[in-house]
Amino acid sequence: MEKFVIKGGNPLSGEISIGGAKNAAIAIIPAAVLVKGVCRLENMPRISDVKIQLEILEELGAKVSYVDETTVDIDCTDIHEATESAYELMRGIRASYYLLGSLLGRYGKASVSMPGGCDFGIRPIDQHIKGFEALGAHIEVRNGKIEADAMSGLHSANIYFDTVSVGATMNVMLAAAMAKGTTVMENVAKEPHIVDLANFLNSMGASISGAGTDVIKIKGVESLHGGVYSIIPDQIEAGTYMAAVAATGGSLLIKNVIPRHLECITNKLVDMNVDVEELDDAVRVTRINKQLTKTNIKTLPYPGFPTDMQPQLAVVLCLAEGTSIVTEGIWDDRFRYMDELKKMGAITQVDGKVAIIEGVRRLNGACVKARDLRAGAAMVIAGMAADGITEVEDIQFIERGYEDIVQKLKAVGADICRICD
Ligand code: EPU
Repeated sequence: MEKFVIKGGNPLSGEISIGGAKNAAIAIIPAAVLVKGVCRLENMPRISDVKIQLEILEELGAKVSYVDETTVDIDCTDIHEATESAYELMRGIRASYYLLGSLLGRYGKASVSMPGGCDFGIRPIDQHIKGFEALGAHIEVRNGKIEADAMSGLHSANIYFDTVSVGATMNVMLAAAMAKGTTVMENVAKEPHIVDLANFLNSMGASISGAGTDVIKIKGVESLHGGVYSIIPDQIEAGTYMAAVAATGGSLLIKNVIPRHLECITNKLVDMNVDVEELDDAVRVTRINKQLTKTNIKTLPYPGFPTDMQPQLAVVLCLAEGTSIVTEGIWDDRFRYMDELKKMGAITQVDGKVAIIEGVRRLNGACVKARDLRAGAAMVIAGMAADGITEVEDIQFIERGYEDIVQKLKAVGADICRICD
């Protein structure tokens, strides 16, 4: 079993460079299925979710080749139906469901396994299905697979989503990119990765407007062509290192970011007495000789505070003076990691979607588990800020979404290593 071993207490200082956005990459990779020709994708994050998405495409017959560490060519000109091993890979990650939208968009037919991914309670996909059905597809779930079929082709539709969903917005955008007519999607998600997927598709010849607002219009085009596209920097990876330096103290220059995407996180850190300086494509986060102070957080769809930063900021609040309230506005069950933090001396109480955190002076090292991707990142932060040794188990969750986390943190002063038990 592999785990991280962290000796806490070192302030972080120096520079960290942020990779490409996970949640953009894992939608853009399946989007390449819509394209006849080679898509060259730059700034590809080096994480296991990307590796799996690319393996799934290869199982479907796509040609995938790395040009350098972060640039990959994908050619989906000739792809075929899913093999058993493709279904097996799909079960491992959430984002495999984007293949429903892209295969449906390209062939009018798709079959994917029920998606896996982090467990924060029920993760319905009714809004994806509602969108596909509006575009003329028939959906059936059987034998652990979701099957979509648009016998007479996809057509445009006006779709009003009942809930704001990142996944449904992207999936239906994929299906509608080549559907006949103009599709209007209302009450859509506005996350930076939604805009990135639309920009990718537009650069390959699609006609999508309004991404980043509540209403997206998609004029279906006949076909998409190959091209070169660079994925945006990862908002959550950057936010995680911002939270890390807030918790440990020190000063970190976080490079290759879009500061506007980080404002929801920056504002909370400033509330907590942390200094954040915004530069062109970097932020400097500093906390030297300053006591963290309490704040309240409620997670909301973008531009609200991101749910994927909730566990990392909660660790910072564990060390802040006073009592803070964290309200989870997206997922039903995203506080399971609080039991792990309690092993380190945190004082927290969870009641449904609300957690009350009473700040303590110090956390103590302990053996803890990464309950999911972001909860795992939170444990790493807690370990770096705590007295003594912390062991973080189940690190496969963390490596799904953070590239070179050990090397990046070591380079800025953390005492962290990855060991095999
Ligand atoms: N929802 C529905 N019906 C649907 C879809 C969603 O009711 O058909 C509900 C969900 O239950 C949830 C809310 O809508 O309460 C938002 O879900 P959304 O669809 O936006 O989430 P997702 O697409 O499944 C993505 C990210 C998550 C991130 C959420 C919210 C990927 C693969 N995952 O999930 O990222 O938490 O958006 O921003 O893009 C992570 O990176 O750690 C992660 C979990």
